[in-house]
Formats: sequence, structure tokens, C-alpha cells
Amino acid sequence: MKRKKIYIIANWKMNPPTFKKARDLYQEIYGNLPRLREINLVFCPPFVWLSRLVLEKASKNIFWGAQNIFWEKEKGAFTGEISGAMIKDIGCKYVILGHSERRKYLLESDEIVNKKIKTALSLKINPILCIGEEKRELNEFNKAVLPVKILEKQIKTALNGISKKRVGSLLIAYEPRWAIGTGISDTFQDVFEVSLFIKRVLVQIYSKNVGEKIPILYGGSVNSKNAQDFIEKGAVDGLLIGRTSLNAKEFLKLIKSLI
Ligand code: PGA
Repeated sequence: MKRKKIYIIANWKMNPPTFKKARDLYQEIYGNLPRLREINLVFCPPFVWLSRLVLEKASKNIFWGAQNIFWEKEKGAFTGEISGAMIKDIGCKYVILGHSERRKYLLESDEIVNKKIKTALSLKINPILCIGEEKRELNEFNKAVLPVKILEKQIKTALNGISKKRVGSLLIAYEPRWAIGTGISDTFQDVFEVSLFIKRVLVQIYSKNVGEKIPILYGGSVNSKNAQDFIEKGAVDGLLIGRTSLNAKEFLKLIKSLI
């Protein structure tokens, strides 16, 4: 397999339910990892486990990420929220922003996501911007069409006011909502086309260089059997993985398939 830098983001969502289970999961994965070579592996557990797991042993290609931050950078009267400065203080380098579950259940808009991306960038935390459509629309011939308009709006609003100079550490994850947690992943061909489209939008907003540099990830029912094809045939730079990252054996299998 060709050697390019690949990002594997383990999005644990609101799992596991106890710290013991979270630590066991991490330790089982970490203890059996192959040499990661060009893979950057980012674990994103829930905040409470995150603040303890960062103390665990890790190697140089392993990073910690949060699943969200508030837009106010440091502190303030925002009950229940966690700031970017706080996650940075415990050693996080990444943050997932605009995940479709937050858009759906917490009504996060593109405008809110935009504020959070700005905050993350100003703290030098790498934001992983999630975009994706609810469902595939059909055209007049009953053929599914790629959600280019939706994606373009999500990208342009989320990156509004962010300069070329500052956008460099962004990652974009294409995650069609209908593929998340359903066992029905997108096709490699569509992911390939969508990733090209996203790059085109970035070139249009910024420059060719930015379009080539920003990693495009895919997420939605990725498993140990299809991961390699998404990287190769889908031509993405990484994968955002939910369910499979909660099963140490399957997750290890998935990582090994990319080495
Ligand atoms: P899934 O979730 O791998 O369970 O489909 C992906 C995600 O929501 O990030």
C-alpha cells in the first residue's frame, strides 16, 4: 500500500459507561498496536474519561481528542460547557466539531460550528470538521445525487472568516448521516467523488495548495473489512470511526489492514 499520512479517529461518543471499561478498552488497543508508521491515531473518549486517559502510556503517533468544545475560548459562565483551553491544558491536540449527532440532537448550526472552529484554531487545536447530508436525494430519473450543495454550504459557513493562513491545521470528515451507525456505508466511488468535490471547494475558497493539504476523512459504518478500500479507492486521508473503535479486536484488525 502507498505510504501517505493517514488519520484514524476513534470517536467513542458516549461510551463506555464506566472508567474501568474505558481504560480496559484503551489498554487492550494500545497493548496490541502494530508499529503505526504513517498512521496518526486519535482517541476521542468522553470528557470525563479523557481527562484520566491522557495519563495512560502512549506512543508518538497516538493523540487525544475531544468530541466537542464551547466557542468561548477559556472560561466563563457557561454551565455544563468545556472550553478549548481546558482540553488543551490536559494535552488534547484534536477536537471533533459539528458531528451530525450534535447537529441533530443539540441543534448545532453551521454558524455555531464556525465559532468553535475559530476557537480551536486560535488555541492551536486541530479541528475535525464533520459535514454530511441527512439522506441522498433522488433526481428526476430516480437516481441518487451527490449532496454537493449541502456540503458546499456546510463548508463555506463553517469556514467563514477563517483565513488561508489559519486554516492549515483543519481536517474535514465527510460523514453522511444515513451511514452513521447503520452498517450501511457509502460506496468507495461516491466517497472518492465527494472528497474531490470538497477539495475543489477548498481550492475555490483558499488556494490549490490548501485544497491539497487539508486531509479529507470518511466516516460512517467503517469496519475492518472496508477501511482499506476507503483509503485506497475512496482516496481519503483517514477515517472517523465510531462503533468499530469500541471493539478492541475489530479496531486492531482495522488498523492492521492499513499498515
Ligand atoms: P460509526 O460512527 O462508525 O458507528 O458509523 C461514525 C461516527 O459517527 O463518527
